[in-house]
Amino acid sequence: MKKFQAARGTVDVLPPDARRRLRLVEIAGDVLGRAGYEPMETPVFEDTELFARGVGPSTDIVQKEMFTFEDKAGRSLTLRPEATAGISRAYIEHGMHKLPQPVKVWTAGPFFRHEAPQAGRFRQFTQIDAEALGSDDPTLDAELILLLAEIFEKAGTGPSHLRLSSLGTPETRADYVDELRTYLRAREGELSEEVRGRLEHNPLRAFDADHPGTQAVMAAAPRLVDRLTTEDADHFAEVRALLDAAGLAYEIDATLVRGLDYYTRTVFEFVSERLGAQAALGGGGRYDGLVEELGGPPTPGVGWAAGLERMLLAAGDEDLERAPTVFISYADPGRARAGFVLARELRQAGYRVESEQAGRSLKGQFKQADRVGAFVTVILGDSIEVKDMDTGTQRVADTPAEVLEMVREAAER
Ligand code: HAM
Repeated sequence: MKKFQAARGTVDVLPPDARRRLRLVEIAGDVLGRAGYEPMETPVFEDTELFARGVGPSTDIVQKEMFTFEDKAGRSLTLRPEATAGISRAYIEHGMHKLPQPVKVWTAGPFFRHEAPQAGRFRQFTQIDAEALGSDDPTLDAELILLLAEIFEKAGTGPSHLRLSSLGTPETRADYVDELRTYLRAREGELSEEVRGRLEHNPLRAFDADHPGTQAVMAAAPRLVDRLTTEDADHFAEVRALLDAAGLAYEIDATLVRGLDYYTRTVFEFVSERLGAQAALGGGGRYDGLVEELGGPPTPGVGWAAGLERMLLAAGDEDLERAPTVFISYADPGRARAGFVLARELRQAGYRVESEQAGRSLKGQFKQADRVGAFVTVILGDSIEVKDMDTGTQRVADTPAEVLEMVREAAER
């Protein structure tokens, strides 16, 4: 028989990890909720054209990494590689520009990129994503960055550093790209083949290169942050002043290149000191032209996404506390129905209850009670006995109501 395995680049999330993941999403929802961000969900697949236009035709994501398929009617669909394009599409489709602005939303779920799997890089991964659409106020940029830092802190992901830059407007960028291309052309012989191949379409990617010759050329290359218009430079200065006022450290990194084309003005990335090659815990930026590019009214936006798997890798296996548990065991297996009813009553009273459901010996049942961390074990036989696992005392209860009372007393200790 064929042995089935999870598809390459995908993982099964088993119980302890699954609980940690839920916990992180809860932390994020709590931090974001207190700043007015509401949960929202968009479909896992969309029109391929949405990502091609939104993320950008020259990006690695669109050129190499999309899971694209045809539906039965021959429409081209793609599993979402990121959230911002879908959320912007939904903003337009539902006329959300008519709501009070900015519209602040967050989402969490699976995303798909056909990349070479390695530690911290998967083909199906999970993002927590937050977006604020409909205002270009620099407090939104700073607020979102600070919220992400707070989520990392509460999640225990450890030290990371924040890289920050500004890309200006598309016009500034276009002029700058021409300038950079001219600069690179004059030094073509020193560049890697890959960078030379991209010179025409995306010379900015040269900042990403590992190739030593290219890196040397890039160290002296003109920088976009030095070419910003006064308005964009002021916006960036305000974002920095707000981060300074909040006491969040960052490094201005003019070489910060994000793998998506929709960015304007602020871009940022948090890089973990605890992760290897795939060290970006999360990143994002402003995308003031995206909604219009997708056919909506001119609408500024800013947001970020963080990789849940990377957050967990960085946070390590901190112990998750379980709610206090009552374990129901049987000295007489014939009392299973009474125990079943009692378990339900105790759960309705708010306790976490587990009971013997695998035919263990009484000794085995006590071991199981220890394993689940029970603070009380109820033993059903000829009588009902309630054992306080901390003190070791065992008392007889005459009625289920008395059991509940004894459990309550033990819980209060
Ligand atoms: P991104 O930088 O492509 O941005 O992805 C954000 C985060 O998702 C990364 O920092 C990383 O933690 C995680 N991630 C990305 N690809 C993978 C992968 N293959 N395996 C595991 N984790 C991964 C965006 O996606 C933008 N939509 C963020 C944004 C929102 N910008 C504005 N709004």
